Amino acid sequence: MNKVALITGGAKRIGLEIAKLLWGEDWDLIIHYRSSQPEAELFANEMNEQRENSVQLIQADLDNAEDVKRLIVETIKWHSRVDALINNASTFFPTPLGEINENNWEKLINSNLKAPLFLIDGLAGELKKNHGNIINITDMNIEKGLPNHAIYIAAKAGLEAITKVFARDLAPAIKVNAVAPGAILEPPGIEWSEDVKKKILRKIPLNRMGNEKDIADAVLFLINSPYITGQTINVDGGRSIG
Ligand SMILES: NC(=O)c1ccc[n+]([C@@H]2O[C@H](COP(=O)([O-])OP(=O)(O)OC[C@H]3O[C@@H](n4cnc5c(N)ncnc54)[C@H](OP(=O)(O)O)[C@@H]3O)[C@@H](O)[C@H]2O)c1
Repeated sequence: MNKVALITGGAKRIGLEIAKLLWGEDWDLIIHYRSSQPEAELFANEMNEQRENSVQLIQADLDNAEDVKRLIVETIKWHSRVDALINNASTFFPTPLGEINENNWEKLINSNLKAPLFLIDGLAGELKKNHGNIINITDMNIEKGLPNHAIYIAAKAGLEAITKVFARDLAPAIKVNAVAPGAILEPPGIEWSEDVKKKILRKIPLNRMGNEKDIADAVLFLINSPYITGQTINVDGGRSIG
């Protein structure tokens, strides 16, 4: 039987690229999405045509605790096994001083920290049975701080911290690691000007933006590495050392 991964926010962008790479390695996938149903269905239909019942879709709003519980139950039920959890879904927006409020706190903490934490808790039992993997997608900006993004960075820093905690709690049965992307894609709905792009590139020793495949490759590398746990890999073209 094929291995099964749950990828949150897997319908588009980086999550979709991780999905394509794992599917190509004969993994069966649960693609979680919130609002990107058309994109999720397009991927699932294409993959299921080539390999029957290889992709299952689950809609859930990670801001909603009941949805997170249902996501756990439906994930375990699908093929009665879970081998990897990829916590990729994320809400991202700035919260400059003056915009730090309860509502923004909830929105940024839920998808970036709380839901990943509860998903790990809910799926750990199944992952243990198969010596599984947890990969948390964090952010290289944790290291330096991202101006005007205190809540988002706090959430991602929390996610990196619990990566280490769970790597210890769940060893030796489950490996828990993180991938911290640098500048990969413009945030949804935002187009950087040429000037902004140039400014970003000047800070990247490898002199190019990253792409979705750079992140997916790191995820697969960590899954396939039997002796790495509790680590974060910055996939940022060297930006973090600049
Ligand atoms: N893009 C970059 O350059 C970059 C840089 C640093 C870190 N990262 C990290 O890499 C990961 C992927 O990045 P990305 O740019 O591909 O992500 P993204 O497009 O901004 O978000 C991925 C998905 O997260 C889902 N999502 C957001 N909030 C949700 C919620 N409350 N409930 C359920 N789903 C929710 C959305 O699903 P729906 O579309 O279905 O609503 C969205 O498609 C993220 O963890 C991000 O923080 C990315």
